[in-house]
Amino acid sequence: MNNLAREDFIKLDTLDLIKKVREEFALPKDVIYFDGNSLGPLPKNTIKSLELVIQREWGDGLIRSWNEENWINLPRNLGNQLAPLIGAKEGEVIVVDSTSINLFKVLSSALMLNKNRKVIVSEAANFPSDLYILEGVNNMFGESYERCLIDEGDDEIEKYIDSSTAVVVLSHINYKTGRITDLKKITTFAHEKGALVVWDISHSVGVLPMNLHDLGVDFAVGCTYKHLNGGPGAPGFLFVHSSLIEKVSQPLTGWLGHIKPFDFEVEYQPANDINKFICGTPPIIAYKAIESGLEIFKDLSIIEIREKSIKLSEMFIQLMQQECTEFGFTLFSPKNSEQRGSQISFLHENAYSIIQALISHGIIGDYREPNVMRFGISPLYMRFEDVWNAITCLREIMQTGEWQSEKFKNKNYVT
Ligand SMILES: Cc1ncc(COP(=O)(O)O)c(C=O)c1O
Repeated sequence: MNNLAREDFIKLDTLDLIKKVREEFALPKDVIYFDGNSLGPLPKNTIKSLELVIQREWGDGLIRSWNEENWINLPRNLGNQLAPLIGAKEGEVIVVDSTSINLFKVLSSALMLNKNRKVIVSEAANFPSDLYILEGVNNMFGESYERCLIDEGDDEIEKYIDSSTAVVVLSHINYKTGRITDLKKITTFAHEKGALVVWDISHSVGVLPMNLHDLGVDFAVGCTYKHLNGGPGAPGFLFVHSSLIEKVSQPLTGWLGHIKPFDFEVEYQPANDINKFICGTPPIIAYKAIESGLEIFKDLSIIEIREKSIKLSEMFIQLMQQECTEFGFTLFSPKNSEQRGSQISFLHENAYSIIQALISHGIIGDYREPNVMRFGISPLYMRFEDVWNAITCLREIMQTGEWQSEKFKNKNYVT
């Protein structure tokens, strides 16, 4: 195979069918951004829509805007806007609370539905918040409940699921490795065993095609601040299959999940639709940012986004092999693109300092313990030339030993 050259990357940019989408983002000129899997960048429209919601809707409209601007229905309307990205039907998704809180709600719902079973299956390599929530729910439901964790690196997930399993809680894309877990296969298997499934799709929403409704997925949760570009700390979302919505209940029975919140009744009576998963008042300013993040996807095909993500990732891995083999990086993400999400991770004993050195050049990736360098691949705004420039810079940092500078050694609180 011929060596890759800069021209190859530039050519791919000219052929890129969705390259214009980049113009929708207010990206700083001197930055190459590989962290959209953690915090997506600012859409230009968000600046305008936040100005509007603050000045006109809140400033002038005041409390009238709950009705006149339809603020009250934003959780549900944004859920419907998001639904096509994950193959959900209208009324199956709601944007609300945080991902962790949503996991608490749907996991409790699943356990209440499958009362006779006592085992919750998840994996040791799952995102820690998911494991902690699981532990909390487990403690709350009582000692008879048991947490069963799939060993790190064990691909034979099926052997952990049997007739005692109440619910299987897994991430669709692993946050550290970028590995995809086969959602269809595991959902089908869990259902055959009578277990329910909860998928954390935080890292796959917006970059991977999904068909949650048709696959019969019971519950899913996810973040809007990653590939959906909804803003720092933006509310999460949850999906409940339409076949379960009426019969399911959830433990955070706040007033806005009531069937008639403004009747101010003494007894709680849940809404008979997805609104029963709302607890308290939605943070409208944050919702407006999610709305403009989602608008970017309106005319885009998720298949096309995935194709570009795979191409960018393949070029990234190939160029790393060509330019950086002698520096001791080990690919931590799956080699096979069908098993890899929109993220490439490498292991290196000096991962933290190397990432910091890259950041000092405006090339922003991130670090995860104990030695993982993560590069998020964001097809909406990433150029092939960015991949060339980033890896060329990485090579220089390694060759010159720049990463060894003292200033790159001190770990920040947020890595
Ligand atoms: C896979 C995954 N699940 C859950 C969370 C937790 O989300 P939140 O802090 O919004 O509750 C994150 C946060 O990054 C995540 O990556």
